[in-house]
Amino acid sequence: MRSHYCGHLNQTHAGQRVTLCGWAHRRRDHGGVIFIDLRDRHGLAQAVFDPDNATAFTVAEGVRHEYVLRVTGTVRQRPAGTENPHLPSGQIEVAAETIEVLNKSEPLPFQLDEAELGETVRLKYRYLDLRRDHMRRNILMRHKLVQTLRRYLEDQEFVEIETPVLTKSTPEGARDYLVPSRTHPGQFFALPQSPQLFKQLLMVAGFERYYQVTRCFRDEDLRADRQPEFTQLDIETSFLDEEGVMGIMEDMIRTAFNTVLNVELPKPFPRMNWHESMQRFGVDRPDLRIPLELVEVSDLLKNVDFKVFAGPANSPSGRVAALRLPKGGELSRKDIDDYTAFVAQYGAKGLAYIKVNDAGKGREGLQSPILKFLPDEAIAEIMRRTGATTGDLIFFGADSAKVVNDALGALRLKLGHDRALVSSEWKPLWVVDFPMFEYDAEAKRWVALHHPFTAPKSDIATSFDLDPANALSRAYDMVLNGSEIGGGSIRIHREDVQQKVFSLLGIDEQAQRTKFGFLLDALQYGAPPHGGIAFGLDRISALMAGADSIRDVIAFPKTQKASCLLTEAPSIVDEAQLRELNIRLRKPVETAGKTE
Ligand code: AMO
Ligand code: AMP
Repeated sequence: MRSHYCGHLNQTHAGQRVTLCGWAHRRRDHGGVIFIDLRDRHGLAQAVFDPDNATAFTVAEGVRHEYVLRVTGTVRQRPAGTENPHLPSGQIEVAAETIEVLNKSEPLPFQLDEAELGETVRLKYRYLDLRRDHMRRNILMRHKLVQTLRRYLEDQEFVEIETPVLTKSTPEGARDYLVPSRTHPGQFFALPQSPQLFKQLLMVAGFERYYQVTRCFRDEDLRADRQPEFTQLDIETSFLDEEGVMGIMEDMIRTAFNTVLNVELPKPFPRMNWHESMQRFGVDRPDLRIPLELVEVSDLLKNVDFKVFAGPANSPSGRVAALRLPKGGELSRKDIDDYTAFVAQYGAKGLAYIKVNDAGKGREGLQSPILKFLPDEAIAEIMRRTGATTGDLIFFGADSAKVVNDALGALRLKLGHDRALVSSEWKPLWVVDFPMFEYDAEAKRWVALHHPFTAPKSDIATSFDLDPANALSRAYDMVLNGSEIGGGSIRIHREDVQQKVFSLLGIDEQAQRTKFGFLLDALQYGAPPHGGIAFGLDRISALMAGADSIRDVIAFPKTQKASCLLTEAPSIVDEAQLRELNIRLRKPVETAGKTE
């Protein structure tokens, strides 16, 4: 139906007769001449209708926004002064000879170039939202990313293999989506939280290098970077240690950024161990674009006459940390109150601070509600460790290490953005040397920090149970600009080690058989040493697109409440369907979907 794409036309086509298909993006009447900007997947081209050609002109007069058109005409240079430097086709226009309306459009529920559109209307009419320029670009960029990754993995002899979606629960730490079985009344499939165990079995099967672009399902609380179904680039390899896996993966991500964005990421990526990351940034995915750091001051405050500090400073699970904000002396009382309210969301009971009015005057030069509690030596050492100078402000967090890390870690990011301290560089890094286990004080048991198939460091391969609190794993996370874009590990490939980890996690022998019998069996039949990683494709795409939410790089995402506004899923189903599945609701179907 067409000879060229609108967005591809340029001066080299001048004089050619072309046929274009697309949508009427804009229509303007200018002193008897009609201009229509025709839009297709590649961009815009301007068609001009002259009243001398009465037939075409009359049709063009009736064209409204988003009508689907086919236009034939001759490409010509735009008159001097009317060029549009923002468009690739901005130097030319098409002098239209014929126009055909292939379909009409109702007036849209919103204008495509409206800047502030509500998410609800965007998701309900997602097919229109996707016509918008930045959304179209995001989706096409994501396509390019995936193709680049596939090509890279193909070159490295990775094999793409699909794994089941109707399967058994895998413990990635979220709630499962369940699917009732009709043929086995009372039994359920779980949708995979990841293909973790299948990819390990593919290593036992001997494929050596596997990958899959695959959907994962997790019923968890959603945020800007979390969807209930999301896409992983899932990878597993045999006979490579962590250096081997990290080396290939880093090269792959560098290649992707180079190909898609023309960006050179650092080579090699810096590495940081988990403990250092928590100490300096309060999180295990530090945003290194922000030049602010937490500084340990617990040891200086053990004997101060201020319980708020002395308590956590003397507790083994407590922490007192300082965070210097350069030029923070400018903050008003209200600013500080707002930041205090901000950290309260993370459990902080307050936000002590010292304003440095004059760094040369010792105690006299400082302003703070807690100054009276601090001895001179502690003040001097706090100033030295934080590097505070005149005009700065130092915040303090004192609580359990968890609360301090959560609160000051989040405050660090907020200050970075509020005070325009975020550098424009790309800052990738590997976080390594994660603890194997974390103690869940509520449930009174150990839980795996990554997942229970992650191998312990070689030196504690069989003795990690003697000191689980200090046992390190062979896990690694790839972090970019404060976002965890990928995580993986070298796995346990010995049955006895795997059983020992399960036991430590409180999974008894019988539960090990019912939940993971197939894995334990497979480990008995010559399982090779193996390890891998999974990348969050949505997160990488969002970073590349500069999008605030991964919803902006997913064609049909779900809302914060995990529903699809376009199809109105989830929805009520027939009684008959439920009967077939042996499901009986406590309430009748008509009211079951409604929440009181
Ligand atoms: P993990 O649970 O760390 O590891 O997931 C890997 C990556 O997937 C992305 N991700 C998500 N993206 C969007 N929405 C979500 N709800 C979501 N959850 C996770 C993150 C994360 O880094 N099987 C292991 C991998 C392995 O060990 O090889 C796993 O799934 O970017
Ligand atoms: P108060 O003694 O409660 O008036 O607190 C004195 C100062 O310490 C105030 O600036 C509070 O914001 C701050 N503060 C109180 N509790 C904490 C805490 N757990 N961590 C950091 N600062 C705190």
